[in-house]
Amino acid sequence: MNTQKMTAQTGQTQWLQQYYRLHSKIYDATRWTFLFGRNEIITEIHNARAPARILEIGCGTGKNLARMARLFPQAELTGIDLADAMLKVARKKFAAMPQRVTFVSKPYEQPLAPDNPFDLILCSYSLSMMNPGWEGVIDCAARDLAPGGLMAVVDFHDSPFRAYKKWMALNHVRLDAHLLPKLTERFQPVTQKICPAYRGLWTYFLFLGERRA
Ligand SMILES: C[S@@+](CC[C@H](N)C(=O)[O-])C[C@H]1O[C@@H](n2cnc3c(N)ncnc32)[C@H](O)[C@@H]1O
Repeated sequence: MNTQKMTAQTGQTQWLQQYYRLHSKIYDATRWTFLFGRNEIITEIHNARAPARILEIGCGTGKNLARMARLFPQAELTGIDLADAMLKVARKKFAAMPQRVTFVSKPYEQPLAPDNPFDLILCSYSLSMMNPGWEGVIDCAARDLAPGGLMAVVDFHDSPFRAYKKWMALNHVRLDAHLLPKLTERFQPVTQKICPAYRGLWTYFLFLGERRA
């Protein structure tokens, strides 16, 4: 990694840690108003598979992991996130069943378990915040998945409004229709869907794809 890229990523990590120190306190109470499709992607996964080893990259406050713990009672769950404040909230959700989940507190930059790969990797509204770094994270995830394993992504897609994109960029979210092309190149699509939010102020997408052999 060159020095310039490392500095940009380190700056991004520090910014996100600081941002989520405050936002972790109001995250679960507020994000249902705009992070759409999170329950739906888990329903799609449930309809497709019963994964035994699950990783969520950028698991935040653990909402998705808690839902998957209920739907997949036999599964081993891992959540990685760079923001300790978010993981603190996530750990509380698993206080009664700490053995169900492993939390890893660091940026996802290297495969976590290439020798014991995951059957499912979920990225829920995390890739659009990884600027720079999202392409590397998708490549790493492909290396962390078992052959035929599922990559599941729900995230912001695009907006026709330049002012809205600028506003989102101020919050470190890139809304540029940039994720789906890379995902479809790296994984064999199983399902993909683009949906409007707030009458088309922005669109978000759901993607399920299989690791290519
Ligand atoms: C918008 S939140 C989404 C949280 C959760 N996935 C959800 O659906 O509610 C994005 C999360 O990704 C985490 N994140 C961003 N970049 C990351 C990286 N490079 N490695 C690990 N976590 C990251 C942030 O700290 C934050 O908790």
